[in-house]
Amino acid sequence: MLKDDILRLLIKSKKGYVSGGELAERAGTSRTAIWKHIKSLEKDGYDIEAVPSKGYRLGSVPDILNAADIGHGLKTRIIGKRIELLRETGSTNAIALETARLGAPEGTVVIAETQTAGKGRLGRTWTSPRGNIYMSVILRPAIPPHKAPLITLMAAVAVASAVRMETGLQAGIKWPNDVLISGRKVAGLLTEMNAEFDRVRHVVLGIGLNVNMDVRELPPQIRNLSTTLAAEAGERINRTRLVQKVLAELERWYGLFLKDESSVLGEWKAINVTTGKRIAVKSISETFEGTAQGIDDEGRLVVKLDDGHIRTVAAGDVTILQ
Ligand code: BTN
Repeated sequence: MLKDDILRLLIKSKKGYVSGGELAERAGTSRTAIWKHIKSLEKDGYDIEAVPSKGYRLGSVPDILNAADIGHGLKTRIIGKRIELLRETGSTNAIALETARLGAPEGTVVIAETQTAGKGRLGRTWTSPRGNIYMSVILRPAIPPHKAPLITLMAAVAVASAVRMETGLQAGIKWPNDVLISGRKVAGLLTEMNAEFDRVRHVVLGIGLNVNMDVRELPPQIRNLSTTLAAEAGERINRTRLVQKVLAELERWYGLFLKDESSVLGEWKAINVTTGKRIAVKSISETFEGTAQGIDDEGRLVVKLDDGHIRTVAAGDVTILQ
């Protein structure tokens, strides 16, 4: 998009002036068109200084995500090479599933500032106020469908790792893929897949990350169970840098996963906060308690019941009781 190209050129000029003529030439358009796009960027909250003899210079940048900002400085090869950024949508997973069905390449990312019908795991809703990160990544791994849950574990490892690197906060993982800080949920992942009997066509990896919102914007019943990175860090977090870090860590862990699943399982085991804890498991058909033993090679949770029997759970919800 032309507007994004202009923004990219202004960002690249690193606080220097770029003349209207140069912008027009490099973006392949007229000076009048440039002026219109500059006005539109100002409407979006960008502070752009215009000096007749010098040109345009970018001042402060608003706290809205922008594909050009994210792309600038993103050092990935595949993940995030194509980014679709939406001010508002129903669900980024729904958009990404449709985009993937139409043939979008692996690594395509859909991001929204807010969602009106955000989807959570097990048919729940994901409340999506502004200030957070809602994004979905299209992957096309050459794996059989029963291995797909490992993709979600891989993503949980990547998100937790990005959060640690960007904020220094001790992010842990609760099975299967909730990212927690100090026992409260800061991110959730929803993986949806389109597969044949023995082959995955594509996977959409949905990531909801609580960043700068006020937790009071969440429904009362989940407020005490949730937190945000800003609340934990005691300062606002730069979402652009965080998105870049999450995409970079996803690319790193996805690459490792495709080469050797055990590296991902090893890291998941190292940073999970479930193993060894007394837990309640709510699966599709029942609820039971026991002690979490860890995960098996397919990412299923292994639980020791009070009578000593071992149960393996493929899908469900875990509450840590102690
Ligand atoms: C969970 O229940 O913990 C999973 C929440 C996943 C939410 C994310 S936000 C981006 C993507 N789009 C959706 O509709 N859901 C996922």
